[in-house]
Amino acid sequence: MGHPASWAALLVLSAAWQLVLGGAAGGGRRSPHNIVLILTDDQDTEIGGMTPMKKTQVLIGQAGVSFPNAVSAMALWGLAWDMRTGDWEGERGTGRPSLEGNCSSPAWQKSQEPLAFPSYLQRQGYQTFYAGKYLNQYGHPTAGGVQHVPLGWTYWNGLVGNSRYYNYTLSANGREEQHGQSYQDDYLTDLITNRSLEFLQKWSHPPFLMVLAPPAAHSPWTAAPGYATAYSTTKAPRNGSFNVHGKDKHWLVRQARTPMANTSIEFLDKAYRERWQTLLSVDDLVERVVGRLKALDLLASTYVFYTSDNGYHAGQFSLPIDKRQLYEFDIRVPLLVRGPGIKANQTRLEPILNIDLGPTFLDIAGLNVSQTAMDGQSFLPLLVTPVQPSAWRADFLVQYTGEGHLTADPACPALGPGVSQCFPDCVCEDAFNNTYACVRALHPHSLQYCEFADRQAFVELYNLTADPHQLHNVARSVDPTLLEALNQRLIKLQACEGPSCRA
Ligand SMILES: *[C@@H]1O[C@H](CO)[C@@H](O)[C@H](O)[C@H]1NC(C)=O
Ligand SMILES: *[C@@H]1O[C@H](CO)[C@@H](O)[C@H](O)[C@H]1NC(C)=O
Ligand SMILES: *[C@@H]1O[C@H](CO)[C@@H](O)[C@H](O)[C@H]1NC(C)=O
Ligand SMILES: *[C@@H]1O[C@H](CO)[C@@H](O)[C@H](O)[C@H]1NC(C)=O
Ligand SMILES: *[C@@H]1O[C@H](CO)[C@@H](O)[C@H](O)[C@H]1NC(C)=O
Ligand SMILES: *[C@@H]1O[C@H](CO)[C@@H](O)[C@H](O)[C@H]1NC(C)=O
Ligand SMILES: *[C@@H]1O[C@H](CO)[C@@H](O)[C@H](O)[C@H]1NC(C)=O
Ligand SMILES: *[C@@H]1O[C@H](CO)[C@@H](O)[C@H](O)[C@H]1NC(C)=O
Ligand SMILES: *[C@@H]1O[C@H](CO)[C@@H](O)[C@H](O)[C@H]1NC(C)=O
Repeated sequence: MGHPASWAALLVLSAAWQLVLGGAAGGGRRSPHNIVLILTDDQDTEIGGMTPMKKTQVLIGQAGVSFPNAVSAMALWGLAWDMRTGDWEGERGTGRPSLEGNCSSPAWQKSQEPLAFPSYLQRQGYQTFYAGKYLNQYGHPTAGGVQHVPLGWTYWNGLVGNSRYYNYTLSANGREEQHGQSYQDDYLTDLITNRSLEFLQKWSHPPFLMVLAPPAAHSPWTAAPGYATAYSTTKAPRNGSFNVHGKDKHWLVRQARTPMANTSIEFLDKAYRERWQTLLSVDDLVERVVGRLKALDLLASTYVFYTSDNGYHAGQFSLPIDKRQLYEFDIRVPLLVRGPGIKANQTRLEPILNIDLGPTFLDIAGLNVSQTAMDGQSFLPLLVTPVQPSAWRADFLVQYTGEGHLTADPACPALGPGVSQCFPDCVCEDAFNNTYACVRALHPHSLQYCEFADRQAFVELYNLTADPHQLHNVARSVDPTLLEALNQRLIKLQACEGPSCRA
């Protein structure tokens, strides 16, 4: 991805910055900076997902840089550990047995955990602290049980299984910890906040990496008592592609009902409100963590990143609620960063991918990303120096492997096996053949070209300059040479690995 010449320029700038920061010339490390990553779950930017984050927007966004074009390279996904384009490591949250096994099997753990960024940082002398949700299967017996602490973590507070707010099990450095439903003792977002403050106060010594992964805004959307009545009249926004029939889209979207059933609309409005309610506790988390960093005089030496694993939809193209689609609402994520050398109140339009986080953390730690298998690229140079917008990738790969049940849903036998996430009216949000790969280009034109691995080899093409809400699939009407060029570009992006994705 990107232009070779520009990438070389970025490396030079990065090296120059290293000198500015006082790192010894000739391969020495720059003075150590701490890293805090706050990673929410299912938080969109396109349908108002950042609206509840008033304090976060001031304390991280206005104190640093916002990336409105940040994207998750897979619309269902977890941490950008070492995710290599075309592979599945780093994926979180899949329901497909083979992939679940892949992402947490002992063989996967053995081969992939040493290649993930916490391992690199720990070997570089970082103290590493984790609290919150991890890969869905972690903590289960097949993934080594609660006693398995993933490699690279000095302090580990990993949630067993998928998002919950109460009644969960935590692996506290490999020791099982059961939690009930007392707000004071158990509300998971607050517990993550409290443990992180305790770490900062009592145990941290620079340099450290702290990753906080609250369950919000994922289902079951259980708000803290103080926020349970917030946004009582809020509804999902009715603009853009809300309740629009995606008649020219892939089969899964075509089978959605327009207009949606009233029960679906009531359901998605309630979910939308509850998502915002759960995010208010995350906004408090950010305030308290930034406040504690300040009180401990650590703010000037700490990078704070705020992002999410994927976007979300609520009624777009008449799909009630979920993620997993190729459209902007599901792939765009918030990304805000503050830290040493970053000027306040900046907005940068470069497309940053979730796979760029790992390389950026390594770069902050003074490690050479080119000596790893990572596909992403460090955006540290964009944070701290006025790099020209052209010195960055102009397009990127978006892909997803659909999930479907092996047997037909008893409520929707007509659909046959292979679908999942079905609503009572048999509108399904996913299927095994909702499997696609796309080129998303921002320059010279804003285009998205996608190929499906389904029986129709379905193709979608959007000109987002003319059609920002992706209402019109123009694959059948454009000049075929454009389709050909995009197909070639897609093949190239899918084949890249490590440095060839950057150069
Ligand atoms: C993931 O699982 C699939 C199916 O079981 C297997 O074919 C593939 O080789 C596995 N990949 C990795 C990286 O383990
Ligand atoms: C937690 O578990 C208790 C006991 O099983 C149950 O009564 C309660 O409804 C659960 N609470 C939540 C919020 O899941
Ligand atoms: C977190 O700490 C606050 C104040 O120190 C306390 O009131 C609250 O009960 C704690 N919550 C959890 C879930 O530990
Ligand atoms: C729709 O409205 C929401 C909430 O006001 C806003 O955040 C979003 O940008 C709007 N989207 C479109 C497509 O206009
Ligand atoms: C669905 O809601 C709309 C708007 O509130 C209402 O006009 C319509 O009658 C409702 N339809 C049904 C079947 O309840
Ligand atoms: C950033 O911009 C906002 C809104 O214009 C302003 O209120 C704030 O003071 C600015 N913050 C900094 C740190 O410059
Ligand atoms: C990083 O490693 C690559 C590959 O080994 C090497 O070519 C490059 O010079 C290194 N960069 C720096 C800044 O040391
Ligand atoms: C995708 O799979 C579903 C479920 O098996 C099937 O009903 C549908 O016809 C398939 N569509 C295409 C285009 O392959
Ligand atoms: C996309 O739309 C813009 C604005 O209408 C137009 O100028 C441009 O030529 C279109 N690009 C393609 C590839 O169709």
